Amino acid sequence: MEKNKSENKLFKMKKHLLLLLNCLLVFSSYEVARCQSAMINVYARNSKSLNGDWKVIVDPARAGDYRQVWLEKKPQKKTDFFEYSFDEGPVLHVPGDFNTQMPELAYYESIIWYKKTFVHQRKGNQRIFLHFGAVNYMADVFLNGRHIGSHEGGFTPFQFELTDYIREGDNTIVVKVDNQRRNDGIPGMGFDWFNYGGITRDVTLIETPVSYVEDYFIQLKKNSLTEVLGWVKLNNQGSSENITIRIPELKVNYSARTDDNGIAIIRFTAGFKLWSPENPVLYNVIIESEKDNLTDEIGFRSIETQGTQLLLNGKPLFIKGVNIHEERPLEAARAYTGEDALILLTWAKDLGCNLVRLAHYPHSEHMVRLAEKMGLMVWDEIPVYQHVEFSAPGFSDKMNLMMNEMMRRDRNRCSVVVWSLSNETYTNTPERSDILTEMTLKCRDQDSSRLITSVLSNQRYENNSFEVWDPLCKILDVICINEYLGWYVPRQGNPAETKWNFVVEKPLIISEFGGESKYGTNYGPGDEAAWWNEEYQERIYLEQIEMFRVTPNLAGVCPWILVDYRSPVRMHPLYQGGYNRKGLLSEHGEKKKAWYVMNNYYKTR
Ligand code: GCU
Repeated sequence: MEKNKSENKLFKMKKHLLLLLNCLLVFSSYEVARCQSAMINVYARNSKSLNGDWKVIVDPARAGDYRQVWLEKKPQKKTDFFEYSFDEGPVLHVPGDFNTQMPELAYYESIIWYKKTFVHQRKGNQRIFLHFGAVNYMADVFLNGRHIGSHEGGFTPFQFELTDYIREGDNTIVVKVDNQRRNDGIPGMGFDWFNYGGITRDVTLIETPVSYVEDYFIQLKKNSLTEVLGWVKLNNQGSSENITIRIPELKVNYSARTDDNGIAIIRFTAGFKLWSPENPVLYNVIIESEKDNLTDEIGFRSIETQGTQLLLNGKPLFIKGVNIHEERPLEAARAYTGEDALILLTWAKDLGCNLVRLAHYPHSEHMVRLAEKMGLMVWDEIPVYQHVEFSAPGFSDKMNLMMNEMMRRDRNRCSVVVWSLSNETYTNTPERSDILTEMTLKCRDQDSSRLITSVLSNQRYENNSFEVWDPLCKILDVICINEYLGWYVPRQGNPAETKWNFVVEKPLIISEFGGESKYGTNYGPGDEAAWWNEEYQERIYLEQIEMFRVTPNLAGVCPWILVDYRSPVRMHPLYQGGYNRKGLLSEHGEKKKAWYVMNNYYKTR
């Protein structure tokens, strides 16, 4: 009896050791490949969409790694069995978040394994890439049972080259998606929006010639309204090629030659009609190498600061902005289609905006491209948000990668006028100011033609006087502050008598302000926050506008937020029910009283 017990124990220990060993092997094999920087202008390439139904395995116990589900083993002998299978499992639609597709995944923050099969027929000497618009948050990708790489970060594109691994005929992709929050993640553990997980943007199989146009930067040189200064980069293992840039409408036909790194410098002048919100002109620009060519729609404009002013195409600009989260209007899910973007951006236009701040992470490319066509300037941001752990090992590399992925995708969009590298981080967080300074310089090094900022919220407010003191102000192009006077911070006097002191004189954007109200709540006193009525929110907006009129250096404002949006930290059962209610519109698009206040203000600017 005793002997049996100890044998059993030994057996169990051995089994655990084997599992552990198995896990270690699996995890170390994950280190073999990293994703490559994604090629740009994906929608203009020769491609096949892998959107649609994907089979899934829901893995709350995080057991799929040691079971090696990507191998999809099937019983061979009578005694075989495997405790997983994609075949009989549920199906999820890609792109899309998983939380809103199955009731049991409503608040899920863990692993889902996705599987898709496709048929491939090789055509000549093409290269094949698998491109993801975004996967939130970690992605591990397997092709035909082989791990081909991983990616961290929920809102930027990435790709893997499949050329050497893809088979003629049937192929299977398995993606392990994990949206569990991480201490060292970007964003970190806490954030005020819904953590939609899944393959949330388009998945595309792209064919290119052996040498292909990977990336380019075709925008006006800083301070010029006529001269383009940029570059084209080929992915071609180093042999030199001729590059031509053609803009038929302007009769531009510019040639250059790539160097040993596959890069050609582009420099030419033309009589551009400049892009602006009033006249969002885009040109067809054809980028041709000896083996590849693709077309993009590109606009040209300049954005700069002059003292405490912003200038767009050399003329004074006041930013009439609004903050937007990437949430599907009317349905409370992650937005991902062009139609979603159209609804949100039309609402921003109705309000009278000329800029949308895409908070707090890069939104889909559909959103950025459509905004550009509609004449909306774009503020792009990475999710370096509030309490991220700047001192976590590898943090700055991760942030750098995310910043580069955002810039790479969007740097040819003239609508993007702001690169924002963080929101409401705190000076007392170790390494915060050093890392943000370093990243600002790196960002400027790559692209000095846009405004670079980090959004601050640590200003002091005493005796109706603001003091904006953060040391970062010195290196930012514009000072952006979030202030919630009348909501989180009680107002201390007459709004028209508010005073301001800045550590340095630069253009100021009030990047967030506002308060909550539940649409249709029109009872109770209009001066008590806890009634959550529209009148209280309206009053906050009226007072803010009185203050704006006397705010020095004010170059723009950006209310928080266009639409009520889901946020599990908003727990008041009657008024919030899991929604941040600072929207000027309800989640159904109904206008609250504050909407009219803001709309009127924008009409006068
Ligand atoms: C912050 C933050 C937003 C947040 C807002 C709020 O300042 O930047 O992401 O949601 O405040 O409290 O509603």
